[in-house]
Amino acid sequence: MTFKILVTSQKGGVGKSTLSANLVAYFSRQMQLKTTLIDWDPHGSSSNWLLHAPNVGVVVQHLSLPVDQGGNRPIFEARLQLRHATKTSDIVLCDLTWSDSMAGELMYEFDMVLVPTSVSEIELGATSGFLSRNRWVFDSAAARRPMLLVCPTRVLPEQLASNIFTKQRFPVSFMLAPPVQESQTARDLYERGFLMDSEDVCGFSFLQFAQAVCAAREMRMAQNNQASKTAAVASNIHATSSDRFASATALRSSLLDGVLSSAQYSILGRHRQRKLAEAEQQTTPATDTSKSMSSLGIPEFIKRMSRGTTSAKF
Ligand SMILES: Nc1ncnc2c1ncn2[C@@H]1O[C@H](COP(=O)(O)OP(=O)(O)OP(=O)(O)O)[C@@H](O)[C@H]1O
Ligand SMILES: [Mg+2]
Repeated sequence: MTFKILVTSQKGGVGKSTLSANLVAYFSRQMQLKTTLIDWDPHGSSSNWLLHAPNVGVVVQHLSLPVDQGGNRPIFEARLQLRHATKTSDIVLCDLTWSDSMAGELMYEFDMVLVPTSVSEIELGATSGFLSRNRWVFDSAAARRPMLLVCPTRVLPEQLASNIFTKQRFPVSFMLAPPVQESQTARDLYERGFLMDSEDVCGFSFLQFAQAVCAAREMRMAQNNQASKTAAVASNIHATSSDRFASATALRSSLLDGVLSSAQYSILGRHRQRKLAEAEQQTTPATDTSKSMSSLGIPEFIKRMSRGTTSAKF
């Protein structure tokens, strides 16, 4: 099944195209996944990056969405383009600057909505506003609602020590990705190479971020498998009464499994995770990176995800 990611935010210059170009390169070259980038940005920054840098095997499409027509037109167009791209890809990633004239339903076309944000108070306020206006998408009970992953970008060393994510109030629960750090390398590599090959803080932090996205994808795929198993069990509830009892029990337990492995976590849960992380840090000497992540309010399970150990229950 193709995994579809929408990289979006309303703010300009937060790093959508930088993350998009580098993530698809990582999926294709490091993960050996068939990957398509759909660049919906009229400036074509992410598609140009891929087209001029050394070839990593990504299918690149610079397409347009009729965003200014508003309503459902962009959704119909997006569906057509996605349907075409998913035929040949394991991953389809779309780079889009969000506009409020677009219907939030567009996000339902995706498995994951990835929102890059820088961590100044003013930027986080804007991100919070964007999430608030679309909270009905992420709060909805629909099984096919997308996972929401917020990624701190262009993070400066001094910002790593702040706990701004725990101070800012957010209207919806979300997963917080490891931060991608600010560095001149990100600008220098445009159309020349990829962050995954850079041996500085930016490259290192990008790798952690990319691994977390991969782990979140695995979680979502496991949930989807669980959901189809549940559907299969439900459709089998028709035989004898004892069969019916067995099937109903299986259905209930698989639904519970789904709840336990939920990809979302609450703000309260995040607070609890932070406290646990702090307690853990007091007992174990942490590396510089894990210190900076927990000070950004990044919960322990995301850190586990970024280390590639996804089997733990949250
Ligand atoms: N981690 C980083 N470190 C340093 N500079 C960065 C980083 N990420 C992005 N930039 C720079 O920030 C600027 C904006 O980045 P980018 O184009 O990726 O953002 P965007 O959100 O796609 O912008 P737009 O809304 O205009 O499409 C670019 O000059 C880019 O080189
Ligand atoms: Mg862009």
